[in-house]
Amino acid sequence: MTKICCIGAGYVGGPTMAMIAKKCPNIQVTVVDINEKRIAAWQSDDLPIYEPGLDEVVKEALGRNLFFSTEVDQGIIDADIVFVSVNTPTKTFGEGAGCASDLQYWELCARRIKEVSTSDKIIVEKSTLPVRTAEAMERVLHSGQSTVHFEVLSNPEFLAEGTAVADLENPDRVLIGGHETPSGQKALQTLVEIYSNWIPRERILTANVWSAELSKLTANAFLAQRVSSINAISALCEATEADVSEVAHAIGTDSRIGPKFLKASIGFGGSCFKKDILNLVYLCESYGLQEPADYWRQVVTMNEYQEMRFVRNMLHSMFNTIAGKRIAIFGFAFKADTGDTRESPAIKVCRELAAERASVVVSDPKAIENAKIELAEELEQMEFEEDPYAAANGAHAVAILTDWKEYKELDYQRVYDSMAKPAFIFDGRNMLDHQALFDIGFEVYSIGKGRKTHLK
Ligand SMILES: NC(=O)c1ccc[n+]([C@@H]2O[C@H](COP(=O)([O-])OP(=O)(O)OC[C@H]3O[C@@H](n4cnc5c(N)ncnc54)[C@H](O)[C@@H]3O)[C@@H](O)[C@H]2O)c1
Repeated sequence: MTKICCIGAGYVGGPTMAMIAKKCPNIQVTVVDINEKRIAAWQSDDLPIYEPGLDEVVKEALGRNLFFSTEVDQGIIDADIVFVSVNTPTKTFGEGAGCASDLQYWELCARRIKEVSTSDKIIVEKSTLPVRTAEAMERVLHSGQSTVHFEVLSNPEFLAEGTAVADLENPDRVLIGGHETPSGQKALQTLVEIYSNWIPRERILTANVWSAELSKLTANAFLAQRVSSINAISALCEATEADVSEVAHAIGTDSRIGPKFLKASIGFGGSCFKKDILNLVYLCESYGLQEPADYWRQVVTMNEYQEMRFVRNMLHSMFNTIAGKRIAIFGFAFKADTGDTRESPAIKVCRELAAERASVVVSDPKAIENAKIELAEELEQMEFEEDPYAAANGAHAVAILTDWKEYKELDYQRVYDSMAKPAFIFDGRNMLDHQALFDIGFEVYSIGKGRKTHLK
C-alpha cells in the first residue's frame, strides 16, 4: 500500500489530503502537524476550518485511510511520498522583510525529513514557494552522508477557499513539475497516477520544477491584477458617472478578456494574493529586474488604495465625522463561504473606523472568532454580534464587506427601521439591489457607481 504523509494540516493540507484519501482508498494518507489543537479538531465534529462539503469528505475517509497525527517523525518515516504544505508567510524581519517569503517552516521540514528518513522518498512541494526553492531543498536533503535518495516535485495548489472541495474534486488543472532526469520523471509519473484516480489525464499538466513553482506565483499575481484593474476603473467610474458593473459586463463579454474576476469591490484579501505578489516582486528585484518588480508591486498598492478609499468615502459621506457613531460591519471573512480572515479588507476598514473613534459592530456567520483575533488591539471599540439585525440596531451605517449570500436575503426594511437616520449603507461588494435600498430610504453608496441620496 502506498503511504502518503502530509506535513501541515492547514487550509491546504487538510482538504487536499482528505480528497486524495477519499478518491484513492488504496493509499494511506496521514496528515501531521505540530499544532495539537488543529490535529484534534480534524478528528472531531468541529473541523478547524469551514469549507462547504468538507465534513462529508473527511468523514468518508477518516479512520479508513485518512489519519491525523502530531507524530511528525513517524509520519515521515512511514511514507513513500511526503507532501509539505506548511505556511510560507511574508518575512517580517531581516533582509526582504515585508516582501520575501519566510522559509523557516519550510526548511525545518526539509531538515526533519533528512534527519529521520531511512528509505527513498518523493518530496512534494505543496506550499507556494519562490521559484528555485526545490534546489535549496535538495541541497538540504542531500547534505552530509546518506544513502537515502529524495526526488523533489513541485505540485502547487490552486484551490480557492470557499470552493475548495469542488476545486479539488474537479480542478481546471493539476500541475506537477519534476526534473528532466529518469528518476525525476519516474517520481512525476507516480504522482500523475495518483491524481489520475479521479482527474482526466489531459487536465494533469507536467512541467519542469521551476516552471511549476513560478506558475503558482504567476497565477495569483494575474488573478489579483484583474481585481486591481477593475478597482482602478471603479475610481474613475465614480468620478464620471460611468457604472463599473456595466463597464465590467461590456469588457467581460470579449472572449479575450472573459467575465471572471471583474467584480469591483473593497479589494482582495486572503492569505495568498498579497504575499505571493510581494514574493514575486522580491524575486524580480533579487534578479535585478526592477521594472517587472515595480509593475507587480502596483497591484498591491492599488488594493491598499481601494481599501482606504472605501473608508474615506464612508467618513466624507457621513458629514466628516463618525466619532461615537455605531457602524455595523456585515461580513469580516475575506470572502464568502470561509471563516478565514487573513488579510481581509475588513481588518483595515475596522481599524480605520476605530481610529476615527466610531463604535464598530462586527457581524459574520463564520468568522467572528477569527475577527476577534485580528482586532485584538482594538477590542474596546468593537462589539461582535452574529445576528446582522442586532448589529444594525441603532446603527448610523451598515457596511457590507463580505459577499455572504445571507446578506442578499435580509429584510432591509427591517434593518432600515431599526437604524438611526439618515441611514447609510455602503455596499463594498456591489451585491445588493441599490434602487430597492434607496426606495426604502437608505443613503446608498457602492463601488464604482453614483451614490443614491435623499439628502439635498
Ligand atoms: N490557503 C489557501 O487558499 C492556499 C491556496 C493555495 C496554496 N496555499 C499555500 O499553501 C501553503 C499552506 O497554506 P495554508 O493556508 O494551508 O496554511 P496554514 O497556516 O493554514 O497551515 C499550515 C500548517 O503547517 C503547520 N506547520 C508549520 N510548520 C510545521 C512543521 N515544522 N511541522 C509540522 N507542521 C508545521 C502549521 O502548524 C499549520 O497548521 C502556503 O504556502 C500557502 O501559500 C494556500
